[in-house]
Amino acid sequence: MQTYKLAVIPGDGIGREVTPVALKILKKATNSVAEFVEEHFELGAEHWAATGGTFEHPESGEVLTDETLEAIRKNDAILLGAVGDPSVPSGVLERGLLLKLRFGLDHYINLRPSKIYPNVDSPLSDKILGRGPVDFIVVREGTEGLYCGAGGSVRTGSENEVATEVSINTAYGVERTVRYAFELANTRERKKLTLVHKHNVLVNAGHLWRRTVEKVAPEFPDVSTDYLHVDATTIFLVTDPQRFDVIVTDNLFGDILTDEAGAISGGIGLAASGNIDASRRNPSMFEPVHGSAPDIAGQNLADPRAAILSAAMLAEHLGLNDAGAKIREAIDADILEFGTAKGRSTTQIGDSILSRI
Ligand code: IPM
Ligand code: MN
Repeated sequence: MQTYKLAVIPGDGIGREVTPVALKILKKATNSVAEFVEEHFELGAEHWAATGGTFEHPESGEVLTDETLEAIRKNDAILLGAVGDPSVPSGVLERGLLLKLRFGLDHYINLRPSKIYPNVDSPLSDKILGRGPVDFIVVREGTEGLYCGAGGSVRTGSENEVATEVSINTAYGVERTVRYAFELANTRERKKLTLVHKHNVLVNAGHLWRRTVEKVAPEFPDVSTDYLHVDATTIFLVTDPQRFDVIVTDNLFGDILTDEAGAISGGIGLAASGNIDASRRNPSMFEPVHGSAPDIAGQNLADPRAAILSAAMLAEHLGLNDAGAKIREAIDADILEFGTAKGRSTTQIGDSILSRI
């Protein structure tokens, strides 16, 4: 029996409802092979307010201290719910908690699978869906680009305000992401890698990404590559999603495309993700792509399946592949029976999946 240390961060809103469900299912699926020693971290809007954060003085509250980050780092993996609340100014929790974790733990791969399950409502027409399975995965760079926080503003609030946001792209950061994407594509049936960028305009970063793909490609002779501008990609995601297998792209493009990917594949209620340090020097973190959904929070209405699928990714990351497969089979069966049908509670969906394991 293998023992793993698991940091659990339910976070805000529906994160507090879906995370316990995902945890219960993870434990049941792994109970014969692994034991999880949990450490729960109460972080998010409530903790920030309780430590003195206010809308006027957000910096007075505690978001994620360096000590807590170090405590989280000592774990083998992290299960995260969702972060964000309207009582906190935009950016405080996102930058101070979620991005501090991703950057501090070097989660340079943000892995976001997308597939259209049978019996799930997709806004795509039957004509498009009739062309075969939609099953692709976005490898989003997680620690660079426009997310670095490079920039600032001067003369803030005046008519002469100047604001900059600088996109940082390093050869090191791009290459490790591109390599990961090639390796992943090489394990998949179709072995196809699409680079998405905008190198007709963003000629500096864009050509760095393009040259890096060209440099690494000869090491993966079985993987075919192509390139799309990001604007064209948004079109193909709704007109021909079957063309995609593995997409590799930068941080912001990946953020936007994976919301669209969630929408075409039956809603954000099924979109899971992993924030991965593929070097395994730091624990990787698994979270649903959806946010904290304050409008439905506390009502037992949230679909826990994205969190449960994230727990399956967590199990697989730790090498617990049978457990991951068990969770996926249970989810497949649940979706086949109920689809995206609304009207089921968080608890009902959780119990239905739990009983199938
Ligand atoms: C996501 C979210 C985050 C991101 C925000 C909350 C910082 O939108 O996980 O996709 O932009 O990465
Ligand atoms: Mn996003």
